[in-house]
Amino acid sequence: MKKLTTTIALSSVMVMAAYAGGDPEYVSFPEGYKENFIHYATINRMNGKQVAALYANEAAMGSIRYGDKLVPGSRIVMEIYKIKKDTDGNPIQGPDGVYERGPLAAIAVTEKSLEWPAGYPVDHRAGDWGFALYTPTGQPKENSLDCASCHLPLADTDYLFTHKLLKQAARK
Ligand code: HEC
Repeated sequence: MKKLTTTIALSSVMVMAAYAGGDPEYVSFPEGYKENFIHYATINRMNGKQVAALYANEAAMGSIRYGDKLVPGSRIVMEIYKIKKDTDGNPIQGPDGVYERGPLAAIAVTEKSLEWPAGYPVDHRAGDWGFALYTPTGQPKENSLDCASCHLPLADTDYLFTHKLLKQAARK
C-alpha cells in the first residue's frame, strides 16, 4: 500500500509538471525588468478581465524600430493585474479607458533565442520564442495554459499580440 501511495504521489507531480504552461526552467525571470526594460503600453486584456502592463528590453525595442522581426535576446514582460469592479460587477474605467488596476496577479515572460537547449520541446515555443509564467515575486507559477498555442498563429507579427504597440513606442 505504501508503495502504491508513493507511485500515485509521484505521478501526480509529473502530471502537474506536464500541464504547467510555460517553461521557467528555460525562460528565466528577468530580474530588475521594471528598471531596465522600457514600459511600452498598458492595455485592457482581450479577455476583458485583466489589465496588462507591457515591458520590453532594449534588444526588442531596438530591432522593432526599423524592422518587423525582433532579434534573438529580445525579452518581453507582461504584468497581469486584476481589475477593480463597481457594485454591479462591471470593470471601473479610468479616463484613458484602461480599467483601474487591482493587485498584480502574475508576470508572463517571453524570450527569443536561436540557442534553446535540445531538451526544450519545440511545441512549447512559438517560432523562436519561449514562454514562462511567474508569480508577482518571480517564482514559477503553476498554470494550465498552453502558451504557444495562442501565439503560434501570429507568425506575421513575430508571434506577438502587441507588435503594433511595441513598434509605435519604439518609433517615438
Ligand atoms: C488564450 C490565448 C493565450 C494564451 C494561452 C497565452 N497568451 Fe500570451 N497573450 C495573449 C494575448 C491576447 C495577448 C495580448 C494581451 C491581451 O490582450 O491579453 C498576449 C500577450 C502576451 C505577452 C506580451 C507580448 C505579446 O505577445 O504581445 C506575453 C509576454 C505573453 N502573452 C506570454 C504568455 C505566456 C507566458 C503564456 C503561458 C503561460 C501565454 N502568453 C499564454 C493570448 C494568450
